[in-house]
Amino acid sequence: VNAHRSAAIRPRTRQEIGRTRRRRSHRCWGHLIAAPLWPLHGANLGTLLRTCDAVGACLAVPRLPWVPEALARGNTLRHQTCVHYTGDPLRWLAQQRNAGMNVLGIELADEAIRLADLPAARVPTVAVLGHERHGIPPDALDLLDQAVEIPMIGHGSTLNVAVAGSLVLYKLAGLL
Ligand SMILES: C[S@@+](CC[C@H](N)C(=O)[O-])C[C@H]1O[C@@H](n2cnc3c(N)ncnc32)[C@H](O)[C@@H]1O
Repeated sequence: VNAHRSAAIRPRTRQEIGRTRRRRSHRCWGHLIAAPLWPLHGANLGTLLRTCDAVGACLAVPRLPWVPEALARGNTLRHQTCVHYTGDPLRWLAQQRNAGMNVLGIELADEAIRLADLPAARVPTVAVLGHERHGIPPDALDLLDQAVEIPMIGHGSTLNVAVAGSLVLYKLAGLL
């Protein structure tokens, strides 16, 4: 009756998974940078950092007094991950643009493309995440090359920053 069913699924053990992973964190590839430039919740930063490690991206964040400690607490990986401290977010974004990075806003905006239509990044890309309450500030919107929106069909108006950033990073990395 169930001939279409394959054999039982056997999740890989920790040891088996570990053997397929890098022994150390990847170094700074500078190809993908997740940029939560107006962070409010430390838990989001730790979660994003894990996604950055998984897809080969760096994290860029201002060194607010609580940020290094929040990253250390939220990062449950054994090895150091690639974190760039930005200083003033607007100045840093302008520098990235001048250096030729593609600056992609992750935001709910009429001008945004849908996540399904976002191709893997062929040029070095900064993925900018907005303030957890107010979104990407107007001054920073002027520094974006394009924007991507993650469609939502439920009741909630937005995703949290770590979820939105992780979905976009996986797409940019070409792993989804
Ligand atoms: C909680 S939302 C910000 C609040 C929202 N802009 C507002 O003013 O009500 C925080 C950030 O998460 C990202 N985000 C959340 N949901 C998103 C979605 N569906 N598509 C794209 N970005 C999203 C954006 O970067 C946004 O600025």
